[in-house]
Amino acid sequence: MSQPHLRTVVVLAAGEGKRMKSSLPKVLHPLLGRTLLGHVLAAAEPLGADRTVVVVGHGADQVRAHLAEVAPAVTPVLQERQLGTGHAVRIALDAVPDATGTVVVINGDVPLLRPETVAALVEAHESDGAAATVLAAEVPDPTGLGRIVRDGQGRLAQIVEERDATPEQRALREINAGIYAFDVARLREALGKLSTDNDQGEEYLTDVFALLRDAGEPVAVHRAADHMETLGCNDRVELAGLRGLLRDRVNEGWMRAGVSILDPHTTWIDVTVTVERDAVVDQNTQLRGATVVGAGALVGPDVTLIDTVVGEGASVVRSHAVGAEVGPQASVGPYAYLRPESRLARKAKVGTFVETKKATIGEGSKVPHLSYVGDATIGEHSNIGAASVFVNYDGVRKHHTTIGSHARTGADNMFVAPVRVGDGAYTAAGSVIIADVPAGAMAVARGQQRNVEGWVLRKRAGTPAAEAARQAREGASEPDGAASEGD
Ligand code: UD1
Ligand code: MG
Repeated sequence: MSQPHLRTVVVLAAGEGKRMKSSLPKVLHPLLGRTLLGHVLAAAEPLGADRTVVVVGHGADQVRAHLAEVAPAVTPVLQERQLGTGHAVRIALDAVPDATGTVVVINGDVPLLRPETVAALVEAHESDGAAATVLAAEVPDPTGLGRIVRDGQGRLAQIVEERDATPEQRALREINAGIYAFDVARLREALGKLSTDNDQGEEYLTDVFALLRDAGEPVAVHRAADHMETLGCNDRVELAGLRGLLRDRVNEGWMRAGVSILDPHTTWIDVTVTVERDAVVDQNTQLRGATVVGAGALVGPDVTLIDTVVGEGASVVRSHAVGAEVGPQASVGPYAYLRPESRLARKAKVGTFVETKKATIGEGSKVPHLSYVGDATIGEHSNIGAASVFVNYDGVRKHHTTIGSHARTGADNMFVAPVRVGDGAYTAAGSVIIADVPAGAMAVARGQQRNVEGWVLRKRAGTPAAEAARQAREGASEPDGAASEGD
């Protein structure tokens, strides 16, 4: 015998979302760190439901794969043909035959819904002992939505879809948000009685309300405090609108928590990101995924951080980082590209036009200019000369370079991996380091310089270069003034 379920959540996500004009199912479109569906599941999460069922249909394989990744405890249920929201819920409940108590049904395309709002709906529903409660909102433009029709006493009479509504009903601005709480037993019974006698020939979940009411069951309306939470998303224009609203909500939350966001209109922070107090986020900045920005850090302007951890007091300016770690008080950019597994220790520096990948850069070490550091370990307090390349790829495999602590490598070095440079070693500018450099040694790995005297005067006679050289040579042999005397 399985346990009775006290609360069940059903998310409806089988629709195609035709107007998105996308090969991606609508509910999988991303919105600041989660898919639309992911946002809805997150809003339902604190209910602590015993079971969560997601009705899948269009793009079912993609939706199932996504669920396995972000919400493995959820049960996907296939609705092969989209015969309406009532049909979808009926199929969902078939998968949880022993469910008792409350079932919360949420349309999969309302990503701004807050957990507190779902909780308040369920709380009102359960304390009223209602058979069914609908979340409603008063909206400026109800176009396309189901209207809440009330009777003479102000009680819910029915929910009518716009296409089935009379002109008077269409004028109503109180709408059905597509979020409901039901007593599961009474819902099951009512679902069995749904007709398809409507403009779309579908089984409407919303018809359950009039059926229950007519049977003398208590049905209720719960008003959402903020109608923006109930906004759905039917095309990419609406999706962009929701993105802007969510951006504002997220930014406001961080500012109230002690983060300075200098230009909230150009700052996009995923809901999955953490920003600590006194961090400063400058304009045109995107913080995505599992990114964490530490206390007092400065990020921006013009920065994108994806799954990147920035330590306290660090600074990242005009740069792009993916899967990187920037240690406390470290400095990055302007114009750096940190690729996965770049790890900068405390006070390390990755400067301008520098790319790093699988690189550990020790405390206080610097890669200031124009370099590529891949598959490398650099010790502490070392300096890598400008325009250096860690030559990690032999065309088949990648190899590692190790630089010790307190090393000073010259500008324009190639470190042909695998190779090691010892502690306190130096390398000369322009060196191609193909062999290990012992601790404390100076490696010089470049051709000897040879000057061919007078070459330009002979081989490029008559050019401005030759003329400049001639003047310089004459000047050197016959400088003006007293200095010429000793010559
Ligand atoms: C629905 C409501 C409407 C409400 C609006 C809020 C009904 C009949 N109408 O209308 O009153 O104002 O939501 O946004 O419910 N789905 C399935 N299987 C189906 C049909 C739909 O899983 O067979 C899913 C969709 O993927 C979507 C949700 O159910 O996530 C709502 O369906 P949709 O077609 O968008 O309904 P609306 O016309 O928006
Ligand atoms: Mg809809």
